[in-house]
Amino acid sequence: MEMGLIGLGRMGMNMGTRLSQRGHRIVAWNRTRAKLDEAMELGMVIPEGQDADRDYVIEDMVKSMQAPRVVWVMVPAGQPTDDMLDAAAAHMSPGDVLIDGGNSYFKDTQRRSHKYSGQGLHFMDAGTSGGIWGLKVGYCLMVGGPDEGFRIIEPLIRDLAPEPSERYPEGGYKHVGPSGAGHFVKMVHNGIEYGLMQAYAEGFEILRAADKTYNYDFDLHGITRLWNQGSVVRSWLLELAEDAMEHDQNLSGIQDYVEDSGEGRWTVLTSIEEDVPAPIITLSLQARFRSRQAESYGAKVLAALRKEFGGHAVKVAESTESGKSPIENPKAPGTQPSPSVAKTDKPIEG
Ligand SMILES: NC(=O)c1ccc[n+]([C@@H]2O[C@H](COP(=O)([O-])OP(=O)(O)OC[C@H]3O[C@@H](n4cnc5c(N)ncnc54)[C@H](OP(=O)(O)O)[C@@H]3O)[C@@H](O)[C@H]2O)c1
Repeated sequence: MEMGLIGLGRMGMNMGTRLSQRGHRIVAWNRTRAKLDEAMELGMVIPEGQDADRDYVIEDMVKSMQAPRVVWVMVPAGQPTDDMLDAAAAHMSPGDVLIDGGNSYFKDTQRRSHKYSGQGLHFMDAGTSGGIWGLKVGYCLMVGGPDEGFRIIEPLIRDLAPEPSERYPEGGYKHVGPSGAGHFVKMVHNGIEYGLMQAYAEGFEILRAADKTYNYDFDLHGITRLWNQGSVVRSWLLELAEDAMEHDQNLSGIQDYVEDSGEGRWTVLTSIEEDVPAPIITLSLQARFRSRQAESYGAKVLAALRKEFGGHAVKVAESTESGKSPIENPKAPGTQPSPSVAKTDKPIEG
C-alpha cells in the first residue's frame, strides 16, 4: 500500500522503516529536511522530481499519491499536530484517510474528527505503543474512527503491529471504537504505565535503603534479573529496569527529574469526570511533579507549621536572603515561639 508519513522523529522514522521493509510505499515528509536523506536510505521515498533539500512541501507529497490517499501524522500532541493535520487535509479529497498516530488528547481528536469528516475525510486516531522498540517488535495499535477508514488502513496497521502468535492470532492491533476511542484507550494505557513505573521505582528505593537500615547490600540489578524469571512482577518494564541498571545500579548519570507528556494528567482528569477513584495513577503523576522541584516550598510550610503549633524542631536552611539562618536572625519569620508553645512546656500534636 501507499502512505504519506509526516514526522520522522523517534517514532515516525522507525514506523516508516518497518512499513517499507514490509513492501509498502512510504512517501515521507519532515520539517527538518535533513532527516529525509536518512528516511530514503531506510527505504522511504519522496515524490519523483522533488529535492529533499529544496522546496518540497506537504502539498507535493499529497498530490503525488493515488486516491484514496492515506496520510499518517506522527508529531507532538497539541499545536504541531493541528498544524500538520491541517496542512495535509488542505490537499486531500473526500474518501481519503487522515490518521493521527501521536499521543493526542481524545477530546482534541473528537473536535478534529468533526472538522475533517465535514470535509469528507475518514479521520482515524491510532494510539501507538512500543516506543523505540516498535521497529523490531511491532507497535501495539489502538485504533478509533469510522469503519470505512479502518477497512482502508488495516493492511498498514497489520504490518505495523506485532505478528500474530498462537495465543494472539488476531495480531497486536484493534479497532476499539469511533473517533477518539483509540486515543482514549492509549491515554488509560499510559496512565497505567505511570502507576506501574512508580511502583517499581518505590520498590527499588526501599531495597536500596535497606543497605543503611538493615545492612543488606542488595544486588539490585541481580534482583531485576531474578524477578524477571517466573515472578509475578516480571514484565517488559522490569526488563528495561534490568538494562538500565546493568552497568550502574546507582544510576549515577541520571538526574532525579521526571517529565510527563500529558497522558497521565488526562487520565486523572477523566477519572474525575467519571467519578472513578484512581489514587495510584494520581499519586504517580504528583510524584513526577515533586521530582522536578529543587526544593519543596510545600514541605517548608509543613515544617514551619509543625514548629509553630508544636515547637517541633526544623532543619535550618543553609542560608537565607539576609545571609543568616532563621535561628541566627531573630527577625526571620517563624523563629519566635508561638503563643501555644510559650504557654506549655510540651509540644502538642495537632
Ligand atoms: N517516543 C515514544 O516512546 C512514543 C510512544 C508512543 C507515542 N508517541 C507519540 O508519537 C508522537 C511523536 O513522538 P516522537 O517520540 O517520535 O517525537 P520526536 O522524536 O520528538 O519527533 C517529533 C517529530 O515531530 C516533528 N515536529 C515537532 N514539532 C513540529 C512542528 N511544530 N511542526 C512540524 N513538525 C514538528 C519533528 O520534526 P523535526 O525533525 O523537524 O524536529 C519530528 O519529526 C508524539 O505525539 C508522541 O507523544 C511517542
